[in-house]
Amino acid sequence: MSTTNRHGLFLTFEGLDGCGKTTQLRLLAERLRAAGETVIQTVEPGGTSIGGAIRRILLDPANDHMGATAEMLLYFAARAQNIHEIVIPATARGEIVISDRWTDSTWAYQGFGRGLGVDVVRRLDEIACAGRKPDLTIWVDVDLETSLGRAKKRNEDEAAADRMDAQSRAFYENVREGYRRLSEEEPQRVRRVDGRGTVEQVAQRVWAVFETLESKNV
Ligand code: TMP
Repeated sequence: MSTTNRHGLFLTFEGLDGCGKTTQLRLLAERLRAAGETVIQTVEPGGTSIGGAIRRILLDPANDHMGATAEMLLYFAARAQNIHEIVIPATARGEIVISDRWTDSTWAYQGFGRGLGVDVVRRLDEIACAGRKPDLTIWVDVDLETSLGRAKKRNEDEAAADRMDAQSRAFYENVREGYRRLSEEEPQRVRRVDGRGTVEQVAQRVWAVFETLESKNV
């Protein structure tokens, strides 16, 4: 891919909790910076100060009575702020933005996991994100055992469990199915990367997918 083609890209990482996407995002960002790009990393929810306040509400175990619709709207509220405060200005300057989760998380977790359906997610995305979609989404796919095992270990290490960790196994099965369906519906944008193996092996797969953007002449 020529350097100019990389300018202004909006990339996202998706996957189940504990899939390794945050590590892979960091490695891709480092590799692009080493190649001379300016890369902005952001996270959903929480990439802005407003998003950070919303994240605390969303993940607080004390809010276990939160309704599914209220939850979905809060995720979109955080994203609406992020798109205008970070994504649109940075990509307009020619910088690369990489986000840890975006609307596809709402599609998978709220649309499929909570069973709210995908039509409402699509409609809210148009409103919240002003029609801006990621240019490429990397779905780091791991099986449920790996995901739940890593998420559990992380909580033990950090002595913290958030509200989403209390979800049932069936919920996460639906979430994974949501990602699978999404990658079928939008195969050009949403690319599955096998999350098994070493960090380096997965990073090589991520890079190979990133390089395919060139052939699409973004
Ligand atoms: P994280 O641990 O990857 O930062 O994500 C926080 C949790 O929020 C994770 O369990 C997934 C969940 N989530 C949703 O349910 N819907 C969304 O739209 C987003 C962005 C995250």
